[in-house]
Formats: sequence, structure tokens, C-alpha cells
Amino acid sequence: KLMKVFLTRRIPPEGMKILSAAGVCEVSQWDSDEPVQRADLLKGVQGAHGLLCLLSDKIDAEVLDAAGPNLKVISTLSVGYDHLAIDEIKKRGIRVGYTPDVLTDATAELTVALLLATARRLPEGVEEVKNGGWSSWKPLWLCGYGLSGSTVGVIGLGRIGMGIARRVMPFGVKRLLYSGRTAKDYAAEVNGEYVPLDTLVSESDFIVVSCSLTPETQGMCDKAFFSKMKNTGVFVNSSRGTVVNQEDLYEALSSRQIAAAGLDVTTPEPLPANHPLLTLKNCVVLPHIGSATYSTRGIMGALSAQNLLGGLQGTDMPSELTF
Ligand code: GLV
Ligand code: GLV
Repeated sequence: KLMKVFLTRRIPPEGMKILSAAGVCEVSQWDSDEPVQRADLLKGVQGAHGLLCLLSDKIDAEVLDAAGPNLKVISTLSVGYDHLAIDEIKKRGIRVGYTPDVLTDATAELTVALLLATARRLPEGVEEVKNGGWSSWKPLWLCGYGLSGSTVGVIGLGRIGMGIARRVMPFGVKRLLYSGRTAKDYAAEVNGEYVPLDTLVSESDFIVVSCSLTPETQGMCDKAFFSKMKNTGVFVNSSRGTVVNQEDLYEALSSRQIAAAGLDVTTPEPLPANHPLLTLKNCVVLPHIGSATYSTRGIMGALSAQNLLGGLQGTDMPSELTF
């Protein structure tokens, strides 16, 4: 008898092919590119043996209870898993798959692109060209900040943080600082200096947030944090929006306490088009596209399908979250 799986969204075809070729599950799906409503999620998951979800789906005790005792595996199409109630999942003996490693390069690339776009004011420049604001080559027009000779601070030197560090070093970065729970041996490759968070914040020209969202990091970038930054400092976040207190960030940007911010993640997502942050020229906001290359998304689709199958069949999952 086929096992039941529920997919909370349309996923890349690479993943669908693997699920149908396996022939072990009957797939039902929220067949849309838009998020499933809570009520439809609670209904869709009923009796499921497997759940494939996205980072926009909050999987808590209510969802697990709605699914019932069949549920063996949750496979998320993401590296982040802050949307999963891990304690509740663990209590019920459910396995979890996720997609680390395969999106490291794409996400590190996007973060560096966002850093440069923000520091060199690319969106403002593009806008000026389009709206007729480009009157001549002007010595002091659209000046920004460059990486060469700078100090870069990476908060959270994990897989993606290290990918970012590797990529910025060839731009002539002078010092690479990092902070986090522990010093990392592999930081030697980028001459990384392990420093307390306060030191990183006050000494960096560029601060890149690349940590996971935990109770410890939630709201970490607040008024006190921004007030310690240099006035020429550029802040970049490609981790999770709630690591930042956005009201404090707005204040820091509008008062020029800091120079600029580039955000690939916000609270909420999507950020409403009338949000105050979007009125600021020195804030560049992207719609959470860190891993969005065609090839990476295809690989994430395939990996999340393989994780789901492994969990259904009680075999190895290529990327199982251990907790
Ligand atoms: C993206 O933010 C992810 O967690 O994969
Ligand atoms: C800029 O285009 C320069 O020639 O300095």
C-alpha cells in the first residue's frame, strides 16, 4: 500500500520526478506557487506519512497533531529549520531532512552581490539612469564604500559564512573578523580572527549576518548593536529577518548612524510595499533569493525528495538533521 505524502507547494520538477519514479508514495500537493493557507495545511497533512514543506510553513504541534501518528518524516526545502518546532518533532520520533551544502555557493554569491550592490549604491544608480537623474559624470556623485583595504565582520562563520569570507578576501579585504559560539579551525584559510561580537561590530566596515535564527540570535541586531557600528558601516543580512530589530535598523539608517543596509531577509516576508525601510535610499531589500539559481533550486528539489523517501522507507536520508 502506498504511503501518503503531502507537499505544501509546487516544487522543482527534479524533485517531482524522483518522487514518482520511486513508486512508494501517493502524492497530494498544494498545487500552487503561493503559500498554503493554514486551514488547507491542517487538512492536507491528515494521515500523511511524509510532509515536504518550505520555510514559509510553520510546522508546530498543531500541524503534527493534525497529521496524526502516521507521520514519519518532514523534509524541508531549505537549509534553515527555524520554522520547525524541533522539540515537538523530536518528542514524536519524526525524522527531519533539510538541504545544507547544496545551496552554500549560491547563497554566498548572492550575499556578496548584495553587499557590493548596497555599498556601491547600484540600485540608486540604476534608478537615476532610468529617471533622468544622470546629468553628467560628477566627482562626488553616488560615491559609496569599497571592500579593498576594509575590515569585514562575519557573524556566524558556518558553511555559508565561510563561503562569503572566501569570496570577499580576493577583493583585498585587510581583516576578516568573525564571531559566534566557538572559534573555527577552518577560519585560518581566510585569516579569520575570532573576536567578541562587540569588537566585530565596532571594528568592521562591513558586517554580514550569516548565523542561524535561534533564541540567542533573535533580535541580536538592535539599537545597541547599530549604535556601536561605524557611521560608514554597511550592514548585510542573508540569514533570517528576525535576527534584526527592524525599527532599530530603520532609525540607524534614517539618522545615518550607519551608512547602508542590504537585506535578503525581512520580517515579515514578504515585506509590505509600503514598509518604512523601503522609503530609504540607503536600504536595499531583496525578496529572499539567496539560493535562487536554477541549478541550485533543482538540486534542492531533488535532495528534499530523496530525504522524504529515505524517511518514508526508514533508510538513510542524504541530509538528515540530527538533534
Ligand atoms: C533559505 O533561507 C533556506 O533556509 O534555505
Ligand atoms: C573614470 O571613468 C575614470 O576614467 O576615472
